[in-house]
Amino acid sequence: MTMLDRPNRTAVSAPSQEGGVARPDLLTVEQAKAMSIGDITTAFKDHLNPGQLHFMKLLGFHKVKIESAEGMYYTDQNGRKILDFFGGFGSLAFGHNHPRILEARQKFQDEKRHEIAIAFMSQYAAALAKNIAACSPGDLDMVFLGSSGSEAMEAAVKLAERAAGPKRPKVVYAENSFHGKTKGVLAITDGQLYRADFKLTDNTVRVPFADIAAVEKAFQSDPEIGVIVLETIQGGGGIIQAPAEYWQQLRALCDRYGVLWVADEVQCGYGRSGRFYAFEHYGVVPDVTALAKSLGAGKAAVGAMIARREVYMKAYGTSKTAMIHAMATFGGMGEACVTAIEGINVLYDDHLIDRAADSGDYLLERLQALKEKYPKIIKDVRGKGLMVGLEFQDFSQTLPMVLRPVVSVLDDKLKGSLSGFIGALLLRDYDVLVAFTEYNRNVIRLEPPLICERAHVDQFIAALDALLGRGIVRIVKDFVGSQIGS
Ligand SMILES: Cc1ncc(COP(=O)(O)O)c(C=O)c1O
Repeated sequence: MTMLDRPNRTAVSAPSQEGGVARPDLLTVEQAKAMSIGDITTAFKDHLNPGQLHFMKLLGFHKVKIESAEGMYYTDQNGRKILDFFGGFGSLAFGHNHPRILEARQKFQDEKRHEIAIAFMSQYAAALAKNIAACSPGDLDMVFLGSSGSEAMEAAVKLAERAAGPKRPKVVYAENSFHGKTKGVLAITDGQLYRADFKLTDNTVRVPFADIAAVEKAFQSDPEIGVIVLETIQGGGGIIQAPAEYWQQLRALCDRYGVLWVADEVQCGYGRSGRFYAFEHYGVVPDVTALAKSLGAGKAAVGAMIARREVYMKAYGTSKTAMIHAMATFGGMGEACVTAIEGINVLYDDHLIDRAADSGDYLLERLQALKEKYPKIIKDVRGKGLMVGLEFQDFSQTLPMVLRPVVSVLDDKLKGSLSGFIGALLLRDYDVLVAFTEYNRNVIRLEPPLICERAHVDQFIAALDALLGRGIVRIVKDFVGSQIGS
């Protein structure tokens, strides 16, 4: 029996021999740290997500137990250092365990500061809101604090809907959008996989991304439209950008038709694109925006909705309306806010936004050279700053006939996509972690921490070059080989 076996469930709430509630069979923190891969797998399967384990096995991720993480690297149970070009889908601007972030948190704990910010005004929440406003252009001054990107986006859409008023309840969103998995924003998230067959609000209008004529047509034909919600750079859609004119025309159209523009910057914001907000590249300011991911500096769960003051006041500006959507229980928690405050300071003190721009340009340049070297494998390279997409050629057109039956026995999700194979082998053979893309399985997402230096880009490119140099047939064979006995 391992330490995770639970032979006697009925005993959980039975009284102990001494009377009172008996302690269930609990793992301690130290036992959790010491769990074997087998124990983790069992607990994951029994209590977290058995279906997801299947994907982890396909990619070989189930063999890795991370023991520690620092800067650009994870360290696994065998002392192997894994270069993190995944970056938690953009949540690790400072890399892992940045010393200044750790120090701020440690000091906060040592001083026994308070956490919950419901009864009294919190100096930490107030300071964080002030900092976020200081980083935001125009009159994007009003901040709602939550603990995830979905929550920030829920707050953004609710605020915009109230400010637009009851006669204009419709919300425009884009094809291939991703705004979160909570029920409200699921209605403007375009993935059928996530929408499944939930009953979602139907006050929505879908338009193609980056198509200004489609937006204008929608605004013209439906006076009930009051809000448009767009990621400035689509992440889950496969790192898709719209040109500067699109954003400028969008701003003008929103002004002309009185529609509020909500910019989702949860993934592309916080310096990742080479500006604090990606929309700053285009010289425009939305009415409402949202941040999360790296806002918590890789150590805390922090999300924020930021609104133009005028729009905020319309929605919640009076004492009667102030509590309609005020901070949630965990919004503005002390240590989370302090972590985020220190993070924003480090972001500017260490010039990480400039670093993102510089390392991002270098990464794109090196990937472009690989695209020229391997035109049959790499289809496209795109992005801004350290938000980069690497799209592979459609596998079904490049794979030799002899290999197709071998691959067809593999999972549906990986068929027709080289990115799963390449991601799995980058980890297995080159100690590099990359991310996949929800809606386009041919795209690998590269969102390394903003502390990424040119030397890290060189390490990544050397690994990718060596792997692609094997050629498609060997890559597929090596991947299939990795599945045997796993
Ligand atoms: C653009 C965008 N919006 C919203 C979200 C939801 O954030 P969270 O997973 O923190 O709820 C994500 C998450 O990936 C995102 O990329």
